[in-house]
Amino acid sequence: MATVLVASNRGPVSYKLGEDGSLTPRRGGGGLVSGLSAVSADDSQESLWVCAALGEGDREAVRRGVGEPGVRMLDIPPEVYADAYNGIANSVLWFLHHHLYDISREPVFDAEFRRRWESYRAYNRAFAEALAAEAADGAAVLVQDYHLALVPGMLRDLRPDLRIAHFTHTPWGSPDYLRMLPDDVREELLWGMLGADELGFHTWPWAMAFVAGASMDSERGVAQGLSPTGDPWRGVEHLRYGVGKGRTRVRAYPLGVDAEELRSLAHRPEVDEKLAALRAEIGDRRTIVRVDRTELSKNILRGLLAYRELLTTHPEWRDRVVHLASAYPSRQDLESYRSYTAAVRTLAEEINTEFGTADWQPVLVSVQDDFPRSLAAYRLADVALVNPVRDGMNLVAKEIPVVSEAGCALVLSREAGAYTELRDDALTVNPFDVSETAEALHTALSMSPSERSDRTKRLAAAATALPPQRWFLAQLEALQD
Ligand code: G6P
Repeated sequence: MATVLVASNRGPVSYKLGEDGSLTPRRGGGGLVSGLSAVSADDSQESLWVCAALGEGDREAVRRGVGEPGVRMLDIPPEVYADAYNGIANSVLWFLHHHLYDISREPVFDAEFRRRWESYRAYNRAFAEALAAEAADGAAVLVQDYHLALVPGMLRDLRPDLRIAHFTHTPWGSPDYLRMLPDDVREELLWGMLGADELGFHTWPWAMAFVAGASMDSERGVAQGLSPTGDPWRGVEHLRYGVGKGRTRVRAYPLGVDAEELRSLAHRPEVDEKLAALRAEIGDRRTIVRVDRTELSKNILRGLLAYRELLTTHPEWRDRVVHLASAYPSRQDLESYRSYTAAVRTLAEEINTEFGTADWQPVLVSVQDDFPRSLAAYRLADVALVNPVRDGMNLVAKEIPVVSEAGCALVLSREAGAYTELRDDALTVNPFDVSETAEALHTALSMSPSERSDRTKRLAAAATALPPQRWFLAQLEALQD
């Protein structure tokens, strides 16, 4: 039986099914992987990661009994999974937490929504039951993200002895936004979360949004006895939250990056090759770098509009700068994501047609999963553009200053979680204000090398304050305390 368990939709490994029937594992990285590896090194603890089988390869692996030690994949019926992941998690909860709806048309909570919500509940129940079956007496369970918001409450009912934490990697939607959900669904969601002993968020503003929303529902019996104190930007030690089923502690754990690991990845031979190719293409021009998933909340379109405005209002930068935009294809099952990706390509082409010359292409967009190319772009960056409309943390804002070779100026949205820690040394912008962003790009490109280098050092120090392993262990200690 496991003493430390992690639950997340996407696990540390996934399998690709070849045409010849072979299964090839692909391993991921990140905070949970390095946190659990520290737990596995401790003989007194046994860890288990419970995740969903995401595609045909993973399902086949479950059927054949192929897997990694310490990982249990749940084979949820594909239609239930699709409704829970695409139909609720990514098109309702993600949209609410990132304020992405065009509210003149969406959301629509009808019978179809109710059917999907049933699937979301079934998918959460599958996790809760698996965790209840695998956990040792009094074990610590760390549940991740909006996909699994109901798990803490369900698990608390099944196994009152467990210590349960939930961490939200996204922002938390403002109370007015969350109030669009049907009342019973919103209550179920809040009660699900409040089944946890500990609720973690990347920053205090998201933690406070959760608390404010739950308090607005206090007349419906969700929350009582709330007493937030301290400065919401700089943080308070924690909030204690008095609720019917117990007491939940709400805290911020701002995830940072592991400088040593990142720098060693950034200096591997395949990255050196990509760097040489990019240098050959860009010459001695300046670079503005951005790296995102093809994600609505990342604000890639307004970023391109700002770049276009820069080239118009500051023509002195024409032919002296290249905008490198890398976008990893993401959630392409959703029509809105496919059309967003197409719109990014179209706008980049328009800018290239408008300003490009025989030997200067103003924007280089790469829509592919190419981490070595992104690392090469990080090394080359003179300016990093991170302008999401709303973002839980945004680790790119923390990675680029750590890896950039000459020091880079960071243009950063004030709506990114990373703003809380990086705002003193970044050029901060309102992500909706294209003109302000264009001016910030100009200021960033004009910054003296010494100022850039000083700021980058301080940004890198802030970015590495709570590296992944310590981020994970801090939550585990709080839970086991
Ligand atoms: C965000 C979420 C993660 C998610 C990731 C990639 O960072 O907080 O939980 O795994 O996006 O999205 P995907 O849908 O591909 O897992």
